[in-house]
Amino acid sequence: MSPSHYTRIVLASRPADSAFIEADNFRKEVVPFDLKPQKGQVLIRVQYLSIDPAMRLWLSEKKSYRTPVPIGGVMQAIGIGAVVASGEDTSLVPGDLVSGIFGMTEYAIQDATAVQKLELPPNTQALDYIGPLGHIGLTAYFGLIDIAQIKAGETLVVSGAAGATGSIVCQLGKERGAKVIGISGSTKKCEWLEQELGIDKALNYKSPTFKDDFSKAVGTLDVFYDNVGGEALDLALASMNLHARIIICGGISQYNTAEQYPLRNYFQLLSKRATMRGFSLYDYTARLEEGRKYLTELVTKGAIKQRYHVVNGLDTAPGAIGILFRGENEGKLVVKVSD
Ligand SMILES: NC(=O)c1ccc[n+]([C@@H]2O[C@H](COP(=O)([O-])OP(=O)(O)OC[C@H]3O[C@@H](n4cnc5c(N)ncnc54)[C@H](OP(=O)(O)O)[C@@H]3O)[C@@H](O)[C@H]2O)c1
Repeated sequence: MSPSHYTRIVLASRPADSAFIEADNFRKEVVPFDLKPQKGQVLIRVQYLSIDPAMRLWLSEKKSYRTPVPIGGVMQAIGIGAVVASGEDTSLVPGDLVSGIFGMTEYAIQDATAVQKLELPPNTQALDYIGPLGHIGLTAYFGLIDIAQIKAGETLVVSGAAGATGSIVCQLGKERGAKVIGISGSTKKCEWLEQELGIDKALNYKSPTFKDDFSKAVGTLDVFYDNVGGEALDLALASMNLHARIIICGGISQYNTAEQYPLRNYFQLLSKRATMRGFSLYDYTARLEEGRKYLTELVTKGAIKQRYHVVNGLDTAPGAIGILFRGENEGKLVVKVSD
């Protein structure tokens, strides 16, 4: 039976470019349940929402790869959920698990063509579709395997290494036979990277000896997979081997600043005949199945692990975004909305 009302989270105010996202940038709305799927549509009960650093960019009016969320609009979020009703002309039926961009809401109406029906191969769970089998794993795969073309014996350095994307990149790098050095923001995360994921060395960028630690551990590098930007990126530019590849996946250290960190070592790109390339997973829409097949094989045989940091309840979603920017998440950050 349908509820009489449902809850959704809308954008109340836009944070300034130099400000963190605060919970009070959002407003909770409890609205009458008037959702009925039309022809080709499905009604979805949201179970989990992915909380992503890119949400910061989706709120900014600065030119970006995406139209900003409007004031009063439901906050965008990738999610997984169950179909509870379907209109005519869809093959989806109640009970089917699906993923898509549902937004911060308990229920969402979606075009059936805009959602993906989830298969659950052995050793996987639905949550993995916002982890290693979803946008997180696919971003790691296309950045490291397709763009960087990582090879056995090369030195791979990963920033944001203990996070959702970074931890998958580290494991893909090990799987390809690279020497993997990860950078993260705490001793605990560094221990997890070395002891649980088996990377060769983890460095804490908050340590006063970080720069020295970096040059001792890294020496020179072939691939830098960057999730963070700023100082670590500049250090990597100064440490490149001939034909190094710098992969700009993200730059979380720069998302809340009006002025970008100045890169002093970019000219090394010329002398090292190196490349620095940014990419968005949106560039790979036509090839997602290829990436998912590769990742599914590794996840089903236990060669890739993702840990999840789960916070409970849709009400917690606005405040959860700040967890990423304070580095408090241990693994992929998700909000559990319903069972
Ligand atoms: N290009 C694409 O298509 C694409 C797709 C998905 C994600 N991304 C990008 O990938 C990156 C990682 O995203 P994710 O979802 O996997 O998040 P995540 O790594 O799970 O979480 C963010 C982590 O960033 C670190 N961090 C936060 N502020 C920092 C700062 N000022 N300096 C250094 N580190 C900081 C924190 O870890 P510490 O404890 O180590 O500080 C935090 O745990 C982001 O930049 C995101 O925008 C890009």
